[in-house]
Amino acid sequence: MPKYQRAPYTHDLYPGAQDWVEDSIRWNVVEDMFRDLCRQYAYGEIRTPVFEYTDLFTRSIGEGTDIVSKEMFSFQDQGKRNLTLRPEGTAPSLRAYLDSPLASEGGVTKIYYIASIFRQERGAKGRYRQHQQCGVEALGSDDPALDSEVIQLAMAFYKRLGLPNLILKINSVGSVDSRAGYLNALKAYVEPHLGQFSDIGKSRFENNPFRLLDTKDEREIAVLADAPKISEYLSTEERDHLEAVCGYLADAGIAYEIDPYLVRGFDYYTRTAFEIQSPDVGAQSAVGGGGRYNQLVEDLGGKPTPGIGFGIGIDRTMIALQSIGVELPIPPGPDAFIVTLGDAARKVGIKLLADLRSQGYSGDIDYTARSMKSQMRAAGKAGARYAVILGDNEIAQGVAQVKSLTEQGSSQQIVPLADLIGSIPKL
Ligand code: HAM
Repeated sequence: MPKYQRAPYTHDLYPGAQDWVEDSIRWNVVEDMFRDLCRQYAYGEIRTPVFEYTDLFTRSIGEGTDIVSKEMFSFQDQGKRNLTLRPEGTAPSLRAYLDSPLASEGGVTKIYYIASIFRQERGAKGRYRQHQQCGVEALGSDDPALDSEVIQLAMAFYKRLGLPNLILKINSVGSVDSRAGYLNALKAYVEPHLGQFSDIGKSRFENNPFRLLDTKDEREIAVLADAPKISEYLSTEERDHLEAVCGYLADAGIAYEIDPYLVRGFDYYTRTAFEIQSPDVGAQSAVGGGGRYNQLVEDLGGKPTPGIGFGIGIDRTMIALQSIGVELPIPPGPDAFIVTLGDAARKVGIKLLADLRSQGYSGDIDYTARSMKSQMRAAGKAGARYAVILGDNEIAQGVAQVKSLTEQGSSQQIVPLADLIGSIPKL
C-alpha cells in the first residue's frame, strides 16, 4: 500500500488508465471537444480562482440548499477571511463577469469553463468530493431561443462524444412570486402526510419545501405522486416562455420530456430548469443540468441581467462512455520511435530525434539503455507509427532501417540518413 493515499472520493488522472474516469488521454479528447464546440457557438473561456469568499455561495446557491448547509469545503485563511472551494461554477463566473468590463459591454455575454468543483458529498460511484464540470453561462437576454441554444450546445456535446440514450428533462420553476403560491399549495398537500416523511423530508418541509420534490425516498415519492404541479401556478409569461423553449428544441430535432416535478439543488433558478440523464452511469444518472437565473446577477450586485447556463459532469460522462464502449478519437502515438544499438548509434539517434521534432514530427527514444527487443516493445506500446532502427552497421553506411509498426507484415526499408526525415509521412 502506498505511504500516502488520496483523500476519500477523489481520483487521479494519468495517461492510459484502464478506468476511463482516470484516463487523462480520454479526458483531453473530451475537454478539447468541449472547447471546440464552445468556439463554434461563440462562447469564450472564463477561468476563476478555485476559492472564493464563502458568502458568494451562501448568497447565490441559497442557505437552505444541501450544498450550502452541508457540502462546502470552507476554511479561514491567515487573514481570517472565510473562503470556500468552489462548489459550482455559476456564481464565480457571474462574480468575475461583474468584476470585469464584460458586464458593461451590453448585448449577450457568452462564457464557458472547465473547472474542478468541490462538494463534501457522501461518496459513491459517480459522486466525488472533487469533480470536473464543463459549463456555459449566457448573460444578458431572456429570449427563449437562448435557452434553446444553451440546451442544444449541451446535447451537441453528447452527440459529438457519441453518447446515446440520453433523456432531457425540462421544467419551469417560475419566479420567486409564482413559486410562493405553489409552495403554499405543496406544503398544504404534504402536511397531513408529514408523519411518513424522513428527517430530511421534514427539514425540507420547514426550510426549503421546493426540495421536497427532489427526494429519493420511495415512501415520499409515493406521497408526492399526486402533489400539485408548479405548472398550475406559473404566470402566463412563464408558461409561454417554457412553451417557446420547447418549440425551439423541437425545431432543432431535440427530444425532451416535460417533468413538472423537476427541481434542482440551487435557489437561484427561475423559469427554465433542465437535467440530462444517462442510464449508463448507474445510480448517479444526471450527467448535466442547468437553467435560467434571471435574478442572480442583480442579487450579486449587478444591473438586472437575465442569464442561463448548464454544468456537465465530465467524470460521470466518462463512466457512461466507458460503460457502453464508445470509441473516442484518441490521438495517435508518436510518428517515430528511435531504436538504437551501441553508443555511436545512440548519439546519432538522439540527434536524429531532435531533428525530427524540430521538423514538426512527434518522436521518442528509450532512455533506459535496454535491449533492442525491449526498445521495439516500447515503440509498440507507445503506439509509434515507425521504428527507426540504428546499429553500428547502419551508422557505418550512413543509413537507418525504417519499419512501419502499423502496417501488418510490412518489411524494413533501408533509408539513407540524409533522406530519412522526408521519408516518414507526417501525421
Ligand atoms: P449541478 O447539477 O449541481 O449543476 O452539476 C452539474 C453536473 O455536475 C451534474 O449533472 C453531474 O453530472 C455533475 N456532478 C455534480 N455533483 C457531482 C459529484 N459530486 N460528483 C461527480 N459529478 C457531479 C451545477 O453545478 C450548476 N452550476 C449548473 C449550472 C450552470 N446552472 C446554470 N449554469
